[in-house]
Amino acid sequence: MFQSMLGALSADLAIDLGSASTRIFAVGRGLVVDVPTRVAILEERDGRRRLLAVGAEARQMEGRNPADVRVLQPVQEGAIIDFEVVEVMLRHLMLQVQGRRLWVGPRVAIAVPHALTDVERRAVRESAEASGAREVHLVEQPLAAAIGAGLPVDEACGQLVLDVGAGHTSVSVLSLGGIVFSRRLRVGGDHLDEALVNHLREHHGLLIPMAAAEDVRRAIGSVMPGGSNPTAWVRGRHLDSGYPRAMELDANEVRIALQEPIQQLAEAVLHTLERTPPDLAADVAETGVVLTGGVASLSGLDRAVSRMAGLPVIVAEDPQLAVVRGAAEWVGRAGSRKRAAG
Ligand SMILES: Nc1ncnc2c1ncn2[C@@H]1O[C@H](COP(=O)(O)OP(=O)(O)OP(=O)(O)O)[C@@H](O)[C@H]1O
Ligand SMILES: [Mg+2]
Repeated sequence: MFQSMLGALSADLAIDLGSASTRIFAVGRGLVVDVPTRVAILEERDGRRRLLAVGAEARQMEGRNPADVRVLQPVQEGAIIDFEVVEVMLRHLMLQVQGRRLWVGPRVAIAVPHALTDVERRAVRESAEASGAREVHLVEQPLAAAIGAGLPVDEACGQLVLDVGAGHTSVSVLSLGGIVFSRRLRVGGDHLDEALVNHLREHHGLLIPMAAAEDVRRAIGSVMPGGSNPTAWVRGRHLDSGYPRAMELDANEVRIALQEPIQQLAEAVLHTLERTPPDLAADVAETGVVLTGGVASLSGLDRAVSRMAGLPVIVAEDPQLAVVRGAAEWVGRAGSRKRAAG
């Protein structure tokens, strides 16, 4: 009773700390924050650090910052590398969501990478508590992704989730509400963009920024040969002359540039199946692979993984939101567990 009164005073929140984006979902309101995971800090002469900006504003400063301003990316390749900065960011964003500090803090679920150490789990928990949460629940990202994708995770049936984000991919087998096996790969959207940058440098002597590679990948990127072959212009610096140069790139060439990292994703699915107990592997052969994460929207990725791994593949609805939606459901369940327990 008291718990539900507290719940009515402040909405439950779910947070996905991604390498590229931090998202907050307020139960009953929906997605309330979706910002780049970036924090800009001013380093004072006396060594103190002052918060300048969070999210898009901080991202804008990247590469344009004076010497005393640092733009930090506290989550990299799916791992939290700076807990202090995460705390500053969470405090700022939670305050923004609530408008002001409430006397009853929200109940918060945070989606964290699989296999954090106890010390790291404590650090995340303390960051959220210091940011005003009254109750903190940690849920592992692969489990949150599966719940957010609508999979019946509590059933005694193996499910395979391939979450392809910006900084990393996780391939996980789940059953009975838990993670049976999960593997992290250093392949994500950032690595696809890097592959495209390297391809253009090697084959055309053109150096383009990562952000331009991401734009072109999202505009015309496809990993399966198809009927139409759309094109896009990219601008960069010609390495021989040093002058700015633009060139028109077609989807076939993008596909060739992305071949190797895409192959790694399919191989990771196969390796995971090899290490999965036979009964669960047999379930997965039937249920197939569920794709989540932003890169799941890359055209043809589902068909490419399906062909290479020999399994059916489906893409979750709004795949980049699967983790935060799943974490929101998790925090709701935590509430009902508590009420049921009395
Ligand atoms: N429509 C789209 N087509 C292709 N790629 C996309 C699309 N939408 C998003 N992406 C890519 O998805 C990636 C971001 O995915 P996501 O938001 O799941 O990452 P993240 O959770 O921040 O990172 P991580 O899970 O690695 O910590 C970026 O590389 C982005 O370019
Ligand atoms: Mg993610």
